[in-house]
Amino acid sequence: MNAPMLIEIDHVAIAVNDLEAAIAYYRDVFGATVDHRELVESDGVEEALLKVAESYVQLLTPTRDDSPVAKYLEKKGEGIHHVGYRVADCAAALQSVKDAGGKVIDEVPRPGSRGTTVAFVHPKAAFGTLIELVQE
Ligand code: CO
Repeated sequence: MNAPMLIEIDHVAIAVNDLEAAIAYYRDVFGATVDHRELVESDGVEEALLKVAESYVQLLTPTRDDSPVAKYLEKKGEGIHHVGYRVADCAAALQSVKDAGGKVIDEVPRPGSRGTTVAFVHPKAAFGTLIELVQE
C-alpha cells in the first residue's frame, strides 16, 4: 500500500464578489483574521487566506472580467469554488491522477500562491468539484 496522496486539506476556496466585505464578515462573525493576501496576476484573482488550524479558508475575487473566477461568479454566483489538498509531490500526484483516468486541467504543475506548486483536476470527472493539488 502506497502512502496516501492527499495529506491534508490545504484550503477551501470561496468565490466572492467583494473581498473586503467577505474578510469583514469572517472577522466579525467568526473572529477569523487574514494570514496572507496575494494578487495572483496569472489567474486574475486576489485572495485572502484565513488560517483554520493547519488549513486555510481562501476568499477569492476576480481582478478582471476574463478571469475564470469572474466567469464562475457570473454563472454560479458566490460560494465554494474549489478544494485544495496538500500533496508531497505535485508532479507525481498529477501523474497518478492521469494514470488512474482522472481528467486534469493543468498538464504540468505551475506556481500557486504562497510559493506553492499546484495543479488543477477537472471538476467534470470529479463529481462536480474543482480539485487543486498543492505542494508547499
Ligand atoms: Co486554490
